[in-house]
Amino acid sequence: MHKNVLITGGAGFIGSHVVRRFIKSGNYQIVNLDKLTYAGNLENLRDIENDPNYEFIKGDICDFDFINELFKKHDFHGVIHLAAESHVDRSITNPMEFIQTNVVGTVSLLNAVKEAWKGKENRRFYHVSTDEVYGSLGEEGLFKEITPYDPKSPYSASKASSDHFVRAYGNTYDLPYVISNCSNNYGPNHFPEKLIPLMIHNIRNKKPLPVYGKGENVRDWLYVEDHARAIELIFEKGKNGETYNIGGFNEWKNIDLVHLLCDIMDRKLGNEQGSSRELITFVKDRAGHDLRYAIDASKLNEELGWEPSLQFKEGLEKTVDWFFNNEQWLNDVTSGDYMKYYDEHYTNR
Ligand code: NAD
Ligand code: DAU
Repeated sequence: MHKNVLITGGAGFIGSHVVRRFIKSGNYQIVNLDKLTYAGNLENLRDIENDPNYEFIKGDICDFDFINELFKKHDFHGVIHLAAESHVDRSITNPMEFIQTNVVGTVSLLNAVKEAWKGKENRRFYHVSTDEVYGSLGEEGLFKEITPYDPKSPYSASKASSDHFVRAYGNTYDLPYVISNCSNNYGPNHFPEKLIPLMIHNIRNKKPLPVYGKGENVRDWLYVEDHARAIELIFEKGKNGETYNIGGFNEWKNIDLVHLLCDIMDRKLGNEQGSSRELITFVKDRAGHDLRYAIDASKLNEELGWEPSLQFKEGLEKTVDWFFNNEQWLNDVTSGDYMKYYDEHYTNR
């Protein structure tokens, strides 16, 4: 029998890979609930939209009445909650939107689930969270599941708060939950406001490549399909009340990553080697910019046998090829409101 699962934010970057993976497994009936903000795009799911086990519903997780009705209409066995405002820079210019969606929206779902699952067994609420809740590392060390929370941006504070609410509902109302905290993802469907797709877009169009500060901040990159595979594994086999860190064991300084991307793209575009590097422009640093993230994913490896499948260079090549083969997608998402935000954001620097 198919399990009935609600996925929120399934039209976004990571959510679209999770929805596709669950549909392709053939084990689930999926309802994808998404508000379709600037970051949500149904093109990301065109290949599975007619699957009989898939349904899309446009809606806002912050709309209590609508969410309660949804849980009355459907008997969901699980919820995988990804819907969020996800871009740190936007959280600096507009923190209230992040509190609304990431905190109020999560609690609205928790409330509906708490009521709907009273007296029912074998249910699970899965909160997809971020490593940014742990704050910023110095030169040494890794984030572990027991690392104290120390969020430093409005985005990470909102995600930390929603993690706390999930645990509080677990403790207070016995809500069965699991949380994962993942490092930086990259791959197909990535909205071109984040570092890797923005650089791909700008290299392709010979536009300046804005590197914040001196480019010395470090991120730990994971191919998005590896994240989706981890989410499926944790949803199916993780233990209730547990947290799992997910990461690529793949740390890169931003400037080294941008150099690598320039070189890959110069080769693919037939440019003179080194020419794209000339587009690099060091710009004003992000306010409160976290220096380094790095995940210790050994718990997930030891308990559930997960490990990343792709080497970074292979993943980057695949990603660049995807963007080259999906120019229409890129043109669509870089028109309209996106450009307005981008221009305002970068002319302020
Ligand atoms: P995204 O911005 O690409 O997608 C978010 C999706 O949520 C969009 O489809 C959007 O329309 C939807 N959404 C936003 N507000 C909503 C609302 N009020 N109601 C319903 N839907 C709404 O984000 P992403 O990068 O795919 O991240 C997904 C989740 O994973 C987020 O919770 C994020 O915090 C977490 N995460 C992201 C990364 C990363 O590197 N991108 C890493 C770790 C964790
Ligand atoms: O660690 C997980 C997090 O990774 C997720 O929770 C977030 O949703 C996701 O957006 C991502 O956050 P980051 O802030 O790390 O990602 P971003 O791609 O915005 O930036 C990566 C690094 O590159 C960061 O150090 C800032 C820098 N940067 C970013 C942009 C957009 C630049 O130097 N120039 C840029 O133009």
